[in-house]
Amino acid sequence: MTTQLPAYVAILLFYVSRTSCQDTFTAAVYEHAVILPSVTLTPVSREEALALMNRNLDILEGAIISAAQQVPSLLSLQYIRFGQTPVQERLSCLAKNNFIYVVANIGDKKPCNTSDPQCPPDGRYQYNTDVVFDSQGKLVARYHKQNLFMSEEQFNVPKEPEIVTFNTSFGSFGIFTCFDILFHDPGITLVKDFHVDTILFPTAWMNVLPHLSAVEFHSAWAMGMRVNFLASNIHYPSKKMTGSGIYAPSSSRAFHYDMKTEEGKLLLSQLESHPSHSVVVNWTSYASSIEPLSSGNQEFKGTVFFDEFTFVKLAGVAGNYTVCQKDLCCHLSYRMSDNLADEVYALGAFDGLHTVEGRYYLQICTLLKCKTTNLNTCGDSVETASTRFEMFSLSGTFGTQYVFPEVLLSENQLAPGEFQVSTDGRLFSLKPTSRPVLTVTLFGRLYEKDRASSASSGLTAQARRIMLIVIAPIVYSLSW
Ligand SMILES: *[C@@H]1O[C@H](CO)[C@@H](O)[C@H](O)[C@H]1NC(C)=O
Ligand SMILES: *[C@@H]1O[C@H](CO)[C@@H](O)[C@H](O)[C@H]1NC(C)=O
Ligand SMILES: *[C@@H]1O[C@H](CO)[C@@H](O)[C@H](O)[C@H]1NC(C)=O
Ligand SMILES: *[C@@H]1O[C@H](CO)[C@@H](O)[C@H](O)[C@H]1NC(C)=O
Repeated sequence: MTTQLPAYVAILLFYVSRTSCQDTFTAAVYEHAVILPSVTLTPVSREEALALMNRNLDILEGAIISAAQQVPSLLSLQYIRFGQTPVQERLSCLAKNNFIYVVANIGDKKPCNTSDPQCPPDGRYQYNTDVVFDSQGKLVARYHKQNLFMSEEQFNVPKEPEIVTFNTSFGSFGIFTCFDILFHDPGITLVKDFHVDTILFPTAWMNVLPHLSAVEFHSAWAMGMRVNFLASNIHYPSKKMTGSGIYAPSSSRAFHYDMKTEEGKLLLSQLESHPSHSVVVNWTSYASSIEPLSSGNQEFKGTVFFDEFTFVKLAGVAGNYTVCQKDLCCHLSYRMSDNLADEVYALGAFDGLHTVEGRYYLQICTLLKCKTTNLNTCGDSVETASTRFEMFSLSGTFGTQYVFPEVLLSENQLAPGEFQVSTDGRLFSLKPTSRPVLTVTLFGRLYEKDRASSASSGLTAQARRIMLIVIAPIVYSLSW
């Protein structure tokens, strides 16, 4: 579901609101319609690469200036020199001139020692890299991506996960990128051990329904981990890459999903500098305290993004159901607003190791719309629905504290303010849904079981080929 277009400059930026006692700040996220190089297997010249980067930066400059004009800010016009790194020089100046923090994703190369057995033949490591410039134009953070996606063969993995944080007067920040979000490090460590308030997340995220659409999963991570989360996707609809947002722990504040136009989009929203981390959810408490809800319906198997779920069909406009797989039992109570029309919904459970395009152990409870009325299509991607829900309450006997609550409505829309999580682990509606429902899901991760399980990687040759065409051979050096 994720892929990486290296060396584009997807940007995300934020700045201090001058109006309050700094317990809030304004965040801005730009979904950039990236101008890509044409596909080639031979390296392009530095001049050519730079010219393309500058075309992208011209667009980003417009977005930054537009963001800065929408919030009172101080302007400063002093110039800083960066020598050999013109892209960073431009980013630094944009940050300083607009009194704004700027976050960007670029490539980084680092010479290595031939005595290092892992040093590549060309004598350098290349990293997928995020950089942060503060509002003085100073480089305050640099992060090398840890969890490379399958197509990122041009990049190296740092020897140890990099835990990168920086402090500001409006809270502490951590940074990671794209596929990292599915793993323990650095994301969970940043929140649990370093107690950051806000995560910065540049990404090139390919949407995969029903559970891994960008806005859906990134907002769920913010809620599950109780942090602010600023996600800046690139805008590339032909690769299903769209979906950026500004997410607070309690709900999304702004989000953008657009498969129809080729335009970039700037989002702005206020966030609390120090969102409360103190709410502790016991994700199994409610579900393990109740008896299985009546069902009587025949169970069936269905495939969700290569994983075999156990499902039951929801038979009426209202009901109570339980479905189990291995150690996980999922309970659902619901009432639909409308009659079923010609739509089928199912409740599913999955407890197992996912092995395609990445290896990660999941426990998932999901209510989802089946693509058609044929039960064999339950779990297939579907983007529209016509059934609203009056109420829902979903819970499961999770063996983890890392559960990400997702509610996705028709046409990939979020439902801010329409649902909540209780401390005993129920994901429940606060009001009837504003649109028809695609899915209501508790997406659990058991990080410690990623390695322990013995299933083999199921990566197909076809999947590899599809991902490879997005590689762009442009790399810049950072003089760090
Ligand atoms: C490369 O490794 C050699 C042997 O370990 C060491 O003496 C030298 O200082 C290293 N050079 C750099 C640039 O790290
Ligand atoms: C940020 O501040 C916290 C406590 O105020 C401190 O423990 C931490 O080391 C600081 N982090 C950085 C990167 O300066
Ligand atoms: C969560 O709730 C379950 C069931 O009530 C209980 O057995 C378990 O100890 C609780 N876990 C924590 C971490 O409090
Ligand atoms: C579902 O269970 C709740 C109580 O847990 C009950 O009030 C309700 O009537 C049940 N709904 C159906 C359709 O059985």
